Amino acid sequence: MLDIRVEKTTNPKMKPAEDDPLTFGTIFTDHMFVMDYEEGKGWHDARIVPFQDLKLSPAAMVFHYGQEMFEGLKAYRSKDGRVLLFRPDKNIERGNNSNDRLCIPRIDPDDFLDALKAVVKIDADWIPTRPGTSLYIRPFVIATDPFLGVRPSHTYQFIIIMSPSGPYYPEGLDPVKIWIEDEYVRAVRGGIGYAKTGGNYCASLKSQVKAHDAGYSQVLWLDGVERKYIEEVGAMNIFFKINGTVVTPMLNGSILPGVTRDSVLALCKLWGMPAEERKISVDELEEAARSGALEEVFGSGTAAVISPVNELRFGDDVMKIGDGNIGPVSQKLYDTITGIQLGEIEGPAGWSVEV
Ligand code: COI
Repeated sequence: MLDIRVEKTTNPKMKPAEDDPLTFGTIFTDHMFVMDYEEGKGWHDARIVPFQDLKLSPAAMVFHYGQEMFEGLKAYRSKDGRVLLFRPDKNIERGNNSNDRLCIPRIDPDDFLDALKAVVKIDADWIPTRPGTSLYIRPFVIATDPFLGVRPSHTYQFIIIMSPSGPYYPEGLDPVKIWIEDEYVRAVRGGIGYAKTGGNYCASLKSQVKAHDAGYSQVLWLDGVERKYIEEVGAMNIFFKINGTVVTPMLNGSILPGVTRDSVLALCKLWGMPAEERKISVDELEEAARSGALEEVFGSGTAAVISPVNELRFGDDVMKIGDGNIGPVSQKLYDTITGIQLGEIEGPAGWSVEV
């Protein structure tokens, strides 16, 4: 059991009202978890303290070379009052895979889980209960050495903050329009595409602005080598239902291995629904859209859950999906995943972890 020192706030903040629809990631709870790392000493001084600004040297390496990893998961309150995390082991495993890629020291998985549970427990009253809301949890590690040379830092901080949140997209469960990017790329194989780190998101901003200006919510990336194969959306993985089969790009090193992506594939398998992880070219997609074989498109992500897509645009080719509304498979996946997250549907073993 991780030994965590607790300093409670003496100045609790106003919580959002029960009926506040909430947006994503703007309000933060009363407390945060912090743990330090020093070479030779390892991870130490685990503590929960009032939510506060950080004190860092302006030379801290994270500001200059972006050595950081982050994760995203959610806590829910079930109708019978339990506090539930959805598959936290997957976030912990991915967090440590990102750490490895970024030369950040691994965090003991049991300590990671203890930290998550402890900080969620202390601010459990912040978990919103209105449908479509949850407590979004953002664990992250930053490199803190005050040094301007390029090398892995010798010191780090692991921090967990939490935000009562509504849907990631203002559209909620209404379908979004997505822009397929043909100018810039997000990641290449051998790079850091599979790691959850700020640089991947920073690389996406220029295209995101371009897509927004053209009236699209998000960018769908093509592979960085041939600029031909579908990769992911950045804030979510992408799925297509083509001729009755659910298809998603296979993991190739430049795609983020999403926890919701994995859950979608596991549910399809459980339901006996054909599902494939494979290469999908943008040509195949355009052809499927032309022939009517492209039945549904949806994104999957922790923040986005299941997000239906009703339009894809590639250059001048505008692909309209289905009748413009959420498709039946997308709806069933959304209902099942949120049902499991809220403890209303029994999911596969280990998917719901009680705090
Ligand atoms: C998440 O879904 O948790 C993410 O980290 C995506 C982020 C862009 C909000």
